[in-house]
Amino acid sequence: MSWTIDQAGKQDGRVAIVTGANIGLGLNTALQLAGKGCRVVLACRNLDKAAAAKAEILQQLPKAKVECLQLDLGSLKSVRAFAEKFSAKHKRLDLLINNAGIMMPPYSLSEDGFESQLAANYLGHFALTGLLLPLLEQTPGSRVVSLSSLAHNWSGMRFDDLQFSKGYNKRKAYGQSKFACLMFAYELNRRLQKTGSKTLSVAAHPGVSATNLAQHFPRILSAFMPVFGQSAADGALPTLYAALGEDIQGGDYCGPKNLQQMRGAPVKVGSNRASRDEAAAKKLWTVSEELTGVSFLS
Ligand SMILES: NC(=O)c1ccc[n+]([C@@H]2O[C@H](COP(=O)([O-])OP(=O)(O)OC[C@H]3O[C@@H](n4cnc5c(N)ncnc54)[C@H](OP(=O)(O)O)[C@@H]3O)[C@@H](O)[C@H]2O)c1
Repeated sequence: MSWTIDQAGKQDGRVAIVTGANIGLGLNTALQLAGKGCRVVLACRNLDKAAAAKAEILQQLPKAKVECLQLDLGSLKSVRAFAEKFSAKHKRLDLLINNAGIMMPPYSLSEDGFESQLAANYLGHFALTGLLLPLLEQTPGSRVVSLSSLAHNWSGMRFDDLQFSKGYNKRKAYGQSKFACLMFAYELNRRLQKTGSKTLSVAAHPGVSATNLAQHFPRILSAFMPVFGQSAADGALPTLYAALGEDIQGGDYCGPKNLQQMRGAPVKVGSNRASRDEAAAKKLWTVSEELTGVSFLS
């Protein structure tokens, strides 16, 4: 039997952060978590959009406990400010949903000098997780969910030119960033287990979901997304399964079960061999610590 949101227990008293929660998969994830009674912090780069998302959630769930807090994952300064503000206000963090992302934009560097997809999709989340880890570890049953993609197959880590300084390939850069998210999820879990931590690190991908993520696609392709892609509500289910599923273990990867993982009910899925390369994952961790200045579990 496939997992459905009805199988998730009540989440009253628990606290979740969902990054990029103003639209798409993040909004649907936040809505379902709030519906289960979780207090949800919408971590968004634009507070007006976050407020609109909060209003949308409250319209459907008038008793939902929802907060907005500014977070730009493309800025390490913003990531640090977010973690400080959140930690000052909250004494627990049950679920960190590293969801926000961008796909195949024109080449640009973040304010810290990183290729924009590596910055927002991966390095910002690496730093955020490290800064929030003390709070996660003091919260029983806590989980970190990292969003990867079928696109993790499009590229490995290009350690000799992570920032695509010599010829930008937007598809490979997206693939690299999502590959990094997956490698990070697995390596984080190995490191947590080694220290005896009870916090779980898991990964998820939504298959193909019709969202705003396709905004940089050629118009003809983005027009077909609603035809091939599943809804954002269905696309959020693997994330919710990873976050709430009772049979989930650290290091699991969840995605849709049908059409070569492009759509369907959420199940545990596999990933390519390269994503399981522990030596490369260690190297990625060290490089990520150097680039972000955030060190943890090392
Ligand atoms: N849709 C799919 O088929 C698909 C497939 C595989 C993986 N994924 C992954 O699923 C995740 C969610 O994507 P989606 O499909 O829901 O896309 P989406 O509708 O475009 O939503 C992306 C979210 O990320 C936010 N975001 C982007 N850059 C950010 C930054 N620098 N700081 C903070 N927030 C930022 C966006 O904020 P703004 O609204 O302000 O731009 C938006 O809230 C991504 O990690 C994506 O890689 C999606």
